[in-house]
Amino acid sequence: MSGVNEIRSTFLDYFRKEGHEVVASSPLVPRNDPTLMFTNAGMVQFKNVFTGLEKRPYSRATTAQKSVRAGGKHNDLDNVGYTARHLTFFEMLGNFSFGDYFKERAIELAWNLITREFGLKKDKLLVTVYHTDDEAAGYWKKIAGFSDDRIIRIPTSDNFWAMGDTGPCGPCSEIFIDRGEHIWGGPPGTPEEDGDRFLEFWNLVFMQYEQVTKDERIDLPRPSIDTGMGLERMASILQGVESVFETDLFRHLIEVASSALGRGPDADTVASFRVIADHLRSSCFLVADGVLPSNEGRGYVLRRIMRRAMRHAQLLGAGDPLMWRLVPALVREMGQAYPELARGEQMITETLKLEETRFRKTLVRGLGLLSEATEKLGAGDMLDGETAFKLYDTYGFPLDLTQDALRQRNISVDLAGFTNAMEQQKAEARKSWAGSGEAATETVWFPVREKNGASEFLGYETEQAEGLIQALVSDGKIVDSAAKGDAVAVVVNQTPFYGESGG
Ligand code: ALA
Repeated sequence: MSGVNEIRSTFLDYFRKEGHEVVASSPLVPRNDPTLMFTNAGMVQFKNVFTGLEKRPYSRATTAQKSVRAGGKHNDLDNVGYTARHLTFFEMLGNFSFGDYFKERAIELAWNLITREFGLKKDKLLVTVYHTDDEAAGYWKKIAGFSDDRIIRIPTSDNFWAMGDTGPCGPCSEIFIDRGEHIWGGPPGTPEEDGDRFLEFWNLVFMQYEQVTKDERIDLPRPSIDTGMGLERMASILQGVESVFETDLFRHLIEVASSALGRGPDADTVASFRVIADHLRSSCFLVADGVLPSNEGRGYVLRRIMRRAMRHAQLLGAGDPLMWRLVPALVREMGQAYPELARGEQMITETLKLEETRFRKTLVRGLGLLSEATEKLGAGDMLDGETAFKLYDTYGFPLDLTQDALRQRNISVDLAGFTNAMEQQKAEARKSWAGSGEAATETVWFPVREKNGASEFLGYETEQAEGLIQALVSDGKIVDSAAKGDAVAVVVNQTPFYGESGG
């Protein structure tokens, strides 16, 4: 039962039998939420159902949701490859109640699944609750028979879950497994909690509130449930391996990468193989959902992920573009559960190949510059911001790629210097802007652009989307409001309308 594909179906079947509608994963680019970079949890597609804005024909649901946590509020990019559990792309298994059951039943359903279906041993498990949530603590005692020392009260935001700055939120209870003394780490709430010994694998959120603005929080119409189990983490537990990268799916991807490279992972290279396998998944799924590499917004997060993977492929000695050659292996592993991967295979392959072919030209030269610039630096030193900016600007090195490259030598980057160099370049560009003569209407776009970045085009994938209004421009000026009948330009952060440009 413990293959990734089987664990996914066991979870969905269990909740189906418990009266939940099995709902397909939503795309990684949220159409109904312009405030989010990527879908980062199962509840995103149900956001408006929780708040009562949208009605569905069911009040319980279950999903396996594609999720990306890179860029935005929940960002795991920097940890990937260096811990046993962080991924940029992962599948979140969840069950949801929209005003149907609440805390007690949610805890009972979770407990029965992990102990009866998945066979986890009670003496290895422990939970956290929000420090004031006596009710949840009481249910854990009653349902699981836990003593007080297995119910850890956490006073921080770790046990109060919110999808972003606004939206549904509430206190949560996380389930942990103790993987044994041989692994470093301590229980949640201790200074060693970041270690891998105590692994959090399921978060039960008791959705009670909606954060409307930064300062205003209101009650949801009806208390609801949102849960998220990391499929890859559960697979590592059930397969008895220490890291998500040793589960069946990742093992297969790493094997294919090894045979393409003519070498397998060892203690020095294992992080690179893991980065490649993780980033392959996020890149392919993002492209399948319509994101293309670019210098802005979501496209830039994708580009950062792809280029990082390419540097690691280079480290492992790849003479030619590598990532695109791994796409068929991923489609084999995950194409059945996510048909969009198989449908998009050709497009994904072409996109990866093109990006890698282009970047290889500057990657090698940039790495040369980087090693020259850091030749005399040692652990604890800092690379100057101008060099980091030159690598960014001339060689296409995203800042985090440079940071990642210096990580093993414990060298950091002067971030203030980097930002300065970037600001200076923008100022130069502005000074030398000649335009075509219609100065008033043209220069207004500089501040709009600098403040908000480019609008993201969603039109390859959808003809309907919500966007956040970023600016209103009237008569060449930014205005705060517009009245009926005014002619204004409306700038939004994402849109299916195609913005034509010159050339
Ligand atoms: N939405 C909750 C999470 O992502 C379940 O952890």
